[in-house]
Amino acid sequence: MKSSMAASLLIALTILGVAIGGCQCTIVQFIFGDSLSDVGNNEYLTKSLARANLPWYGIDFGNGLPSGRFTNGRTVADIIGDYMGLPRPPAFLDPTLTEDTIMSNGVNFASGGGGILNETATYFIQRFSLYKQIELFQGVQELIRQKIGPTEAEKFFQQSRYVVAMGSNDFINNYLMPFSSDSRTYNDDSFITYLVGTLSDQLKILHSLGARELMVFGLGPVGCIPLQRVLSTSGACQQNANNLALNFNQATSKLVIELSNTLPNASFRFGDAYDVVNDVISNPSNYGFDNADSPCCSFGKIQPSLTCIPASKLCKDRSTYVFWDEYHPSDSANMIIAKEMIKKLGFPKVNQAGAPSPQPS
Ligand SMILES: *[C@@H]1O[C@H](CO)[C@@H](O)[C@H](O)[C@H]1NC(C)=O
Ligand SMILES: *[C@@H]1O[C@H](CO)[C@@H](O)[C@H](O)[C@H]1NC(C)=O
Repeated sequence: MKSSMAASLLIALTILGVAIGGCQCTIVQFIFGDSLSDVGNNEYLTKSLARANLPWYGIDFGNGLPSGRFTNGRTVADIIGDYMGLPRPPAFLDPTLTEDTIMSNGVNFASGGGGILNETATYFIQRFSLYKQIELFQGVQELIRQKIGPTEAEKFFQQSRYVVAMGSNDFINNYLMPFSSDSRTYNDDSFITYLVGTLSDQLKILHSLGARELMVFGLGPVGCIPLQRVLSTSGACQQNANNLALNFNQATSKLVIELSNTLPNASFRFGDAYDVVNDVISNPSNYGFDNADSPCCSFGKIQPSLTCIPASKLCKDRSTYVFWDEYHPSDSANMIIAKEMIKKLGFPKVNQAGAPSPQPS
């Protein structure tokens, strides 16, 4: 009698021990995104037409050489990850990536030109769309399972943090291009339904692969990037593009809340900085900016895509320009965007002793 009770107690403790003994691994991030979050994948996609591998990209980052980021300094995901106390994940295509660096730093799959939709930005020739990035993540999971075994790997992936920051290219380099097949197939409403429906499938796949703590970044006023402003003679923001971004944010916010409430153990959050960026653009001097409509790094008046090249002229004070190039915000604008997201989402800081932070209720 006594011994059988002791045995059951032992069994109970063993089960409990397994259940409470989380993986003794570092908490790392897996980042899925486009050029706003790319940290070098496209540098290795040598046929891609969207690459930030030449000066003056990265001039305010580390040693000032191109870092693969499509800005002069840090990305929004860099700044938010730093705030959370998480290591900065290297690019998936970084040739030095190993199982050990994955376990200690995570991986960044973001790729310039990438979209939620496979058919977005095909004319950049090479880029990782979100489905492709998820496929690459599955490959990473297999490597880690082989390294530490399936049980520990499952814990590792469940306690990791996930960022999904995509959608701009699905508008700028797809739906809003007059000759794209999606622009002929859909109208504004049906395109957003299609786009957000695809994102929903993708977020569910990420959950099925273990993602529990996941944040989705919304879009800014994409109609105000310099590349959109040159479409009109007045140089004003493209209101149609801005409305699409607002509608996308609204639908995506709803989706993320719904998934967070229905998928088991999911803590999915949505954040955007649309309103703040819009205000910065309308009242730049309130935020310490002098210029909110043209790129700091530009090549005269000709503005096809990515003309921040070695022959470009740089603005005098990079910290006072909202835009770094035709598409991308500067480091100082990214700082404002990141601060707004942190405020909206109330990101829990991560205890780098290796313990997961408490689940928000
Ligand atoms: C999108 O591309 C991936 C490969 O990256 C492929 O597996 C998938 O079937 C494609 N999905 C659609 C809807 O075309
Ligand atoms: C949810 O969390 C509980 C407690 O940590 C765990 O036992 C359960 O397996 C989790 N379910 C899923 C689907 O992750």
